[in-house]
Amino acid sequence: MLTYTHEPFTNFLDEKNKKAFQDSLSYVQSQLGKDYPVVIGGEEITTDKKIVSINPANKEEVIGTVSMASKELAEKAMQSALSTFETWKNWKPEHRANILFRAAAILRRRKHEFSSYLVKEAGKPWREADADTAEAIDFIEYYGRQMMKIKEGMPVQSRVGEFNQFHYIPLGVGIIISPFNFPLAIMAGTTVAAIVSGNTVLLKPANSTPIVAAKFVELMHEAGLPQGVLNFVPGSGAEIGDYLVDHPKTRFVSFTGSREVGCRINERAAKVQPGQIWLKRVIAEMGGKDTVVVDKDADLDLAASSIVYSAFGFSGQKCSAGSRAVVHQDVYDEVLEKAAALTKTLSLGNPEEADTYMGPVIDEKSFKKIMSYIEIGKQEGKLVTGGEGDDSKGYFIKPTIFADLDEKSRLMQEEIFGPVVAFCKARDFDHLMEIANNTDYGLTGALISNNREHIERARQEFHVGNLYFNRVCTGAIVGYQPFGGFNMSGTDSKAGGPDYLLLHMQAKTTSEML
Ligand code: NAD
Ligand code: ALA
Repeated sequence: MLTYTHEPFTNFLDEKNKKAFQDSLSYVQSQLGKDYPVVIGGEEITTDKKIVSINPANKEEVIGTVSMASKELAEKAMQSALSTFETWKNWKPEHRANILFRAAAILRRRKHEFSSYLVKEAGKPWREADADTAEAIDFIEYYGRQMMKIKEGMPVQSRVGEFNQFHYIPLGVGIIISPFNFPLAIMAGTTVAAIVSGNTVLLKPANSTPIVAAKFVELMHEAGLPQGVLNFVPGSGAEIGDYLVDHPKTRFVSFTGSREVGCRINERAAKVQPGQIWLKRVIAEMGGKDTVVVDKDADLDLAASSIVYSAFGFSGQKCSAGSRAVVHQDVYDEVLEKAAALTKTLSLGNPEEADTYMGPVIDEKSFKKIMSYIEIGKQEGKLVTGGEGDDSKGYFIKPTIFADLDEKSRLMQEEIFGPVVAFCKARDFDHLMEIANNTDYGLTGALISNNREHIERARQEFHVGNLYFNRVCTGAIVGYQPFGGFNMSGTDSKAGGPDYLLLHMQAKTTSEML
């Protein structure tokens, strides 16, 4: 087997690739409006209650509808997952991994098709959609390979006359709850990690992006996944989410999403229910308030571009988005000016066009929330550029910079999850580090600096799960930059890392007298 390397990003300057992507968009256009079922143990169930998925760039366009699972169907899915676990857990790890390798191969072949669904359903511009699909391929391929590595367990010592072994076994039924912002990569990654580890799952996708999840479930079955291993239960987070998190037979919950929902899940999962014979495991990867820090001695063009691209990629709707720029006072004005000038060159518009840099935000609720933070920003700081939204056709908000924020202001502390970046001035390097660490979160951060001593200090002092030097703070690559955050950013589960699968397993020691 060749060494793992991440899926390359598509070069859309190549006319052949551009044409292939346009053809895929046309194909997906022809598929819009379909209805997708709940899938339980291979049975496709259509219900009356639907999630209607719309194009956030064009509210009139329906991407498709998805049947919603009720509590009764969630219970049926749990029973299916429980009974399938009894056989799936005995599959050889390499046979489980083989299904992932085939799934990765199919997704590679249908890459532009899946990316086109991301353009349509999530409003991702081409490059962002392509990166999301590439990351999904990477997760599937990488976790298959990781399973092959850990299948023999870890070596332990044996004394004369005894034979000791230490290996990992699956946990049971897991609930996978995924967010809208990486509707393919995170949804697929969290699902296949649990499955390849020998667990069976119930997948509840985000309500604004259920169609791409339904397509992924089809793909996994095409790749040969036995029915009942992956059960698809779209539905209301409050209704079936709570029901499944509370369920006594749930063995673990793998959640990615907001701090609010993550804390709720963690709290509910901690309560031992009647009939429950284990403590549930919770993997919760949550929000961020990530900072790009600019030192006095830094490449200021690199600083400006790192701030702008960290802040506005996918309209700032990444947990890793750099929503704060903390800049040394000596270079503050220059960096701000350069960042504002660059921001004004970004194109905002229809993500279906090849040269659009930024598309819409995901839905009306997000649009309203972000616009309300823009009003707060006007009170707390100085609006430098942007600040306007237009929801007449889709949910478009201009890339927005606020300057001169107090380090404790709401814009500097609260996750906005939109195209808004707050600038804050620092006196010296100590102050830069102090502000960088002054949030409840700890997901990503970047330091732009040419000062070796400061880089090494930041390596120790900047308390985030993913720290980058002289680059953007977004775009972690599976198998290269394992991803997960500290503090209220979550359980630091490090998706795409060498120990991720172990979170879905338990270790068993056996000792035989010879
Ligand atoms: P969200 O918390 O609103 O929703 C996430 C999922 O939880 C959805 O599937 C939703 O339906 C479900 N849910 C809602 N209520 C529930 C309940 N009571 N019980 C169980 N499930 C419930 O998040 P979102 O808006 O989809 O995503 C954006 C958030 O996700 C941001 O805060 C972002 O920072 C975070 N995020 C974090 C990471 C990470 O790796 N740390 C990655 C991506 C996104
Ligand atoms: N893995 C994604 C990033 O690093 C969230 O931007």
